[in-house]
Amino acid sequence: MDLRIDAARLLSRLEELGRVGATGDGGCARLALTDEDRQGRDLVVTWMRDLGLDVQVDAIGNVVALRDGREPGPPVMCGSHIDTVATGGIYDGNLGVLAGLEVLETLASAGVVPRRPMAVAFFTDEEGSRFAPDMLGSLVYAGGMPVEEAYDLVGIDGARLGDELARIGYLGSLPCPGLVPHAYVELHIEQGPVLEHHDEVIGAVTGVQGISWQEVRFGGQFNHAGTTPLALRHDAGFAAASVAVAARALARELGPPQVATVGKLDLRPGLVNVVSGRSTLTVDLRNTEGDVLADAERRMAEEIDRIASEEGVTVERRQLARFDPVQFDDRIVGLVEETAHGHGHAVRRLPSGAGHDAQMLARLCPSGMVFVPSVGGISHNPAEFTSPGHVEAGANVLLHVLHRLAEEEIVS
Ligand code: GLV
Ligand code: MN
Ligand code: MN
Repeated sequence: MDLRIDAARLLSRLEELGRVGATGDGGCARLALTDEDRQGRDLVVTWMRDLGLDVQVDAIGNVVALRDGREPGPPVMCGSHIDTVATGGIYDGNLGVLAGLEVLETLASAGVVPRRPMAVAFFTDEEGSRFAPDMLGSLVYAGGMPVEEAYDLVGIDGARLGDELARIGYLGSLPCPGLVPHAYVELHIEQGPVLEHHDEVIGAVTGVQGISWQEVRFGGQFNHAGTTPLALRHDAGFAAASVAVAARALARELGPPQVATVGKLDLRPGLVNVVSGRSTLTVDLRNTEGDVLADAERRMAEEIDRIASEEGVTVERRQLARFDPVQFDDRIVGLVEETAHGHGHAVRRLPSGAGHDAQMLARLCPSGMVFVPSVGGISHNPAEFTSPGHVEAGANVLLHVLHRLAEEEIVS
């Protein structure tokens, strides 16, 4: 099959979706289940319906659009997410969904009906920035969390997930866990510098590193910043800052690929002349090696206890997300690599530093991912950019990988 996707159509959809929740600096903010997320969803659902797909919404708001094959059976699925972080670019997640739509449209326009049904999905709340954990919709889809538990999650703004899902009109009727696909392949921007650095066009993603998110709260004593001697302070702000420093030191000591991030820090009362009496921070630890990640968590917990005890503050912790490293299916990794080589691209096998819906789908079926380069390795930033040529290359690899999988025999 010699088909190619229509790059102009794909890029124009990416730009149009990027205008929903636009932040005026080239980026967009569509936090999960906000009005902006609803507008983005409505737009993509309209495109899915225009293409004549059978659009279904499940109990956690995942949207799955199906196209029949020549024979009935489990579909070959692709997709990603269309929610963004508050400082999001227009490619993260959106590319995988819109490229999937583009693949289905390319096949339909050419009159190609593969043996198997095909599906393109977007999963609810992949980012996890409003409602933790990340990859929530695909986690529930894969049976990793009961839907009722997900409904009761409370967001950073105090909203309850189930209420927000109903409010934006995406509380669907399809049960979770969902339909088990024959295979799942997700196109995504790399969000890191590796492909660009090596002048490569396609990443055959081998897996996703393990993720540990926790929230830490320190309780100290508000006091006068001018009169309280250091030795008599119970400074929750100092404790929080010490955790940020300790997290960086720990990651340095463990060495790459260990990373550690304190991305959210809130001090109360947050005034120039008051010793802070309460602080809340998040710690994000990631590693491709499960045992090293577990060691990092243990050592971070010890550091937090030591800091709290030295400063005389109370400490509470809450796990926000915890996912082991995931290996993708060898055959799909090989298929991505072979297809990209066949298209004449320089290819690299690499693990993903970011979390992805594919890591949840991997619990259900053979799964894999295609990466395309991110200019400057920048993501979760309005400056996130992938060149039109790389978008096109990635979507064409996706097309041919999906088509190959969709021609596979159905054994009943
Ligand atoms: C979510 O996608 C993350 O990697 O933080
Ligand atoms: Mn993403
Ligand atoms: Mn993201």
